Amino acid sequence: MRSPATGAPVERREGREKVTGTARYAAEFPFPGRLFARPVPAAVARGRVTGVDASAALGLPGVVSVLTHENAPRLAEPDDATLALLQNERVPHRGWFVALVVADSAEAARAGAAAVHVDCSAEPYDVTLSADHPDAYVPEEANGGHPAVRERGDARGAFASAPVRVEVGYRVPPLHNHPMEPHASTARWDGEHLTVHTSSQGTTTVRDVLAGLFGLAQERITVVAEHVGGGFGSKGTPRPDVVLATMAALRHTGRPVTVVLPRRFMPSVVGHRAPTLHRLRLGADADGRLTCLEHEVTTHTSRVKEFVEQAAVPARVMYAAPHSRTAHRVVPLDVPSPSWMRAPGEAPGMYALESAMDELAVELGMDPVETRVRNEPESEPDSGRPFSSRHLVECLREGARRFGWERRDPRPRSHPEGPLLTGTGVAAATYPVMMLPSAAAARVLPDGSFLVEINATDIGTGARTVLAQIAADALDVPLERVRVRLGSSDLPSAPVAGGSSGTASWGRPVHEACVRLADRLAGFPGPVPAHGLVEHADTADTDSPYSRHAFGAHFAEVAVDTVTGEVRVRRLLGVYAAGRILNARTARSQFVGGMTMGLGMALTEGSTLDAAFGDFAESDLASYHVPAHADVPDVEAHWVEEDDPHLNPMGSKGIGEIGIVGTAAAVGNAVHHATGVRFRELPLTPDRVL
Ligand code: MOS
Repeated sequence: MRSPATGAPVERREGREKVTGTARYAAEFPFPGRLFARPVPAAVARGRVTGVDASAALGLPGVVSVLTHENAPRLAEPDDATLALLQNERVPHRGWFVALVVADSAEAARAGAAAVHVDCSAEPYDVTLSADHPDAYVPEEANGGHPAVRERGDARGAFASAPVRVEVGYRVPPLHNHPMEPHASTARWDGEHLTVHTSSQGTTTVRDVLAGLFGLAQERITVVAEHVGGGFGSKGTPRPDVVLATMAALRHTGRPVTVVLPRRFMPSVVGHRAPTLHRLRLGADADGRLTCLEHEVTTHTSRVKEFVEQAAVPARVMYAAPHSRTAHRVVPLDVPSPSWMRAPGEAPGMYALESAMDELAVELGMDPVETRVRNEPESEPDSGRPFSSRHLVECLREGARRFGWERRDPRPRSHPEGPLLTGTGVAAATYPVMMLPSAAAARVLPDGSFLVEINATDIGTGARTVLAQIAADALDVPLERVRVRLGSSDLPSAPVAGGSSGTASWGRPVHEACVRLADRLAGFPGPVPAHGLVEHADTADTDSPYSRHAFGAHFAEVAVDTVTGEVRVRRLLGVYAAGRILNARTARSQFVGGMTMGLGMALTEGSTLDAAFGDFAESDLASYHVPAHADVPDVEAHWVEEDDPHLNPMGSKGIGEIGIVGTAAAVGNAVHHATGVRFRELPLTPDRVL
């Protein structure tokens, strides 16, 4: 019997192309006559464009044209208001694009953009979030379609009478998506057909949005994203680069146009994780059983488009508590539009909840692993639905064993090393299982090879590779005989690489099409015809009677320098229960990547809305600090086998986001263990810690 392809640590199929530089990204299509366009950001925090003087820019060598709201092509009104670019004189926030300079080189476009003179009238603005902001309101729902407020029993009453109480506030600052490849697009007209190469998490969506905005039939547009240098949610929806490149190409028929967003422009236009203010009230009996759990979140949104970080949602899933209230409030401000960033909701929400659980454990004098185990629910607390599988306790126990948790003296400040205070911390992780409808095709060719076609997107995760593994097993053929074509909107339509749902969503129709093809081949008389044989599959939305989530546990060891206030993470260890792991190598990379991002959230990453200026103060990588190699010494990812029949044919849950969930809490809890001091605002930079 052939051993299955899924589960094996198969190397990325495009790895060689990437490391040898032959893999091409969206800006790397040097079509003849290609132009470059550079956007010009508004220099007021709120106001109106009152005049644009482009004459100096147009006089520069290489500058071809300058688009503004006065001469740009008219767009249909988008569902996503952040894409209504150059359509009117409004400036809703600093950094909003007010002009586009088109030139025959990137350098000329940059010089032209610097020479465009934009006059704006400035209006009063407000970018400062506070929990008692007079404009705060309760939205209809939070991101993901979650109800803004859920209440069971009488959380306030139960808290008042609880023998052990923790009432705490936490703050997570704005955070930025900085994928290695910035947002970039190249648009090219070929007769009546528009082809766009773009850096996106899903080009079926991009095609549909462009068709709507520009009033084009979908058949006339092909959107390609063959290689994508990361996204983390910021490329889950089309961004200004793709709209502006298409706009500029429209105006200059025959000449392709590339738009690359400069990194310093990204924070204002590609979405950010909105800051969240958390208020938690945990009440427990003396045995450590929660009697009530309240988590209230206040966050901001822009005035362009409502987005509500659903940070109180994981508290609906995690722990048994007879009385519970989870709620979101949002304040509309004159800020850039927040959006998805790796584990929206869970990442900040579990920082707060898992820090508060640690505070509760300290209050109880109970081990924090045991405190969590004691509050395992029978079914999902919020919905009452049974879990399809839940192995959080196994993750905690296995993590504790591997980490050497039993060697820990629970007393704070009990592990000094000279000027260093060292400590260890734990936090749980969770992420929902999502699956979206998708189509796929599987084809056999006369040479006995197979071709799978689906508009999945490989944003660096290894999607090509794992889909080939899924196909090989469904066809029952060796992996080498299967090729996968993805990353083009001309292929069978597929949802975005987002919500940790890619592999599960795409794998279903790939599996189904391959099973059908194998069946057909088994009964097929004679050789495969020259054009091959093809089977299609199209999966529908499915609602499950089960509550489906991945779980995990994070353990951290830190050293806090009492002289400099610097916190260094010495070890991070994660154990996950996420269904079947389909590729041990790429899965480990996802988990470790998530934990590394969580380390950044804990220690170095954080943005500030400067009230005097009305914009993020940290808009490049010199000021917004992502962890560097030397910050990440020892990260381990493990998993417990989970056999869950209620998911999909592969038995997989998502793994792209859970690594960041709870990691910052594990680090913060370790800092408390090291120092005896509880810091409740991220990141834990030396100025805060000292
Ligand atoms: Mo992820 S934030 O859903 O791309």
